[in-house]
Amino acid sequence: MSSEVNPLMSKLLPEQLSRYERDGFLVLEDFVTAEACDRLRERAQKLVAAFDPSEVRSIFSTHEQTRTSDDYFLGSGDKIRFFFEEEAFDEKGGLRQAKEHSINKIGHALHDLDEVFAEFSRTPDLAALASDLGYARPVLIQSMYIFKQPNIGGEVTCHQDATFLYTEPLSVTGLWFALEDASLENGCLWAIPGGHRLGLKKRFVRAKDGGTRFEVLDESAWPLDQLVPLEVKKGALIILHGLLPHMSRTNRSPRSRHAYTLHLIESGCEYPATNWLQRSPKLPLRSFEF
Ligand code: FE2
Repeated sequence: MSSEVNPLMSKLLPEQLSRYERDGFLVLEDFVTAEACDRLRERAQKLVAAFDPSEVRSIFSTHEQTRTSDDYFLGSGDKIRFFFEEEAFDEKGGLRQAKEHSINKIGHALHDLDEVFAEFSRTPDLAALASDLGYARPVLIQSMYIFKQPNIGGEVTCHQDATFLYTEPLSVTGLWFALEDASLENGCLWAIPGGHRLGLKKRFVRAKDGGTRFEVLDESAWPLDQLVPLEVKKGALIILHGLLPHMSRTNRSPRSRHAYTLHLIESGCEYPATNWLQRSPKLPLRSFEF
């Protein structure tokens, strides 16, 4: 990362940067407008409406990663694909409720392939923020639209984003946008303040014989008693250090908790071919040019 002079207006105060360095996360309330949130929600709704669930039944679950290790998942790095909630299906494999209330997330190249998402993902504000965070040539490696559906929204177990988006040296940062209020009730984020200093625990890699596996680097358990909830209002941005342990619990409430995430890496860093997420050279990684 570079200390080049920032040509853009700074988005973060020195006090905010030092809190980010201390905690490994930073909450910025009102980073995006309610209208921008609604545009993404409407667009996601349209994408789901156009999706035929009979094409695929890829379920997203961090409990059983092997179930997600199918071609549909592994090929999603440069596509727009749909992943169901684990509890979406009944014993016979039918959807328990409407399609639009069954999808866990859409991933992983919305920011490159859909113009509404591209517009949200590439703004001068985000370019300035990346520069404040120390990026010289940031590129957007991944985007996800997360539904956290009412009643069946699944848990995402404690993890570090660098497990899934590993570079050498480590460079990933997560940007988590609340498109609706996120509270204890509907499954807000939780994080371990300062946990980004505990080191990387594992990598999620492509296995030689197909599928994926976790490569364990450190078997110690997370200090889960140190988790704190990050309740935020619609429009907030939470910046997540790539090594920060974070999670979210199930949503058993009648309210959804939609969020959009973007992940940045530094383009000068090595991106291993063993990383689960790969992209075709036909869709090169891009920065924040707008
Ligand atoms: Fe994450």
